Amino acid sequence: MRLLNQYLKHHDTPDDLIDLIDSLMLSCKEIAIKLREGALAGVLGTSEGINVQGETQKKLDIISNDILKAVLLDNPTVAGLASEEEDHPVAGNPEGKYLVTFDPLDGSSNIDVNVSVGTIFSILEKPEGLDGGTDAAFMQCGRKQIASGYVLYGPCAVLVLTTGNGVHMFTLSHGGDFILTEENVKIPEYTQEFGINMSNQRFWEPEMQSYVADLLQGEEGPLGKRYNMRWVASMVAEVHRILTRGGIFMYPWDSRDPAKPGKLRLMYEGNPMSFLVEQAGGLSTTCYGHIMDVEPEKIHQRVSVGLGSKAEVETMMKYHAKD
Ligand code: AHG
Ligand code: MN
Ligand code: MN
Ligand code: MN
Repeated sequence: MRLLNQYLKHHDTPDDLIDLIDSLMLSCKEIAIKLREGALAGVLGTSEGINVQGETQKKLDIISNDILKAVLLDNPTVAGLASEEEDHPVAGNPEGKYLVTFDPLDGSSNIDVNVSVGTIFSILEKPEGLDGGTDAAFMQCGRKQIASGYVLYGPCAVLVLTTGNGVHMFTLSHGGDFILTEENVKIPEYTQEFGINMSNQRFWEPEMQSYVADLLQGEEGPLGKRYNMRWVASMVAEVHRILTRGGIFMYPWDSRDPAKPGKLRLMYEGNPMSFLVEQAGGLSTTCYGHIMDVEPEKIHQRVSVGLGSKAEVETMMKYHAKD
């Protein structure tokens, strides 16, 4: 049995990074406790607030954000943080080495129906000479990530982590320890499962329309096999399913809000999930190129997402390839 900290030490993770991951997990354990109490703690339902993304915040979006913010700002390794629920980056210790971005509660629209949600995080190094409380410090592409991961709060709480050395899963024990339960997770190359919000079909680009139409044709269509569909509406749950048994997940650009490149956020969702997926042998794209190569221009930048089993993502990209 291996504990998270032991595992990281054994794999030559720098002490300050272990310390930071420790603070992230302390926060996630607190969030897990709040989630478990649900209605008993009066934490379900919607708050009065609207976040910078234009979304009505759930009470638990705010609670989770506050927990992460307080714990991380107390850690001297943190030079700054950026969150889906904060208008601007927040400065930490000017001497700190790391920047943290996070989606405090992903899938929060599901919270009241008791479906799996999660916390997604990404760790970058603070560039020399920049203030950790500025947008400029965070304008780094996903390839620069030092670590990323999520904690899925499902029937059990699971940390899925990469520090650039494979993807590993740690399950939260009753005693409050994250214990290694799966090492070197690999996504199967082929799959027969896809996930996309079909209700947006009429707003997609013709390329995506055509790909999904062929998926739906099953063995009679050009792809020659029958596909099943899963949609939890909680990205952490979708990515967890893909890491566990393969699949393709898509949240493409759509014409509901044509100025935005997609619904999902590059810094809090796109990049951390892409790092995990590629470390597990999968692919993660905007439909046209690697998400982790996108150079961010804005902290809350959106991105179109198609990720999962390598061969399936490549097929999807062929539909988008310009002649
Ligand atoms: P968040 O709850 O952090 O705002 O993110 C929700 C995201 C993601 O988890 C999911 O894939 C997608 O929104 C679901 O969107 P729909 O509203 O289209 O179902
Ligand atoms: Mn949100
Ligand atoms: Mn999210
Ligand atoms: Mn969220």
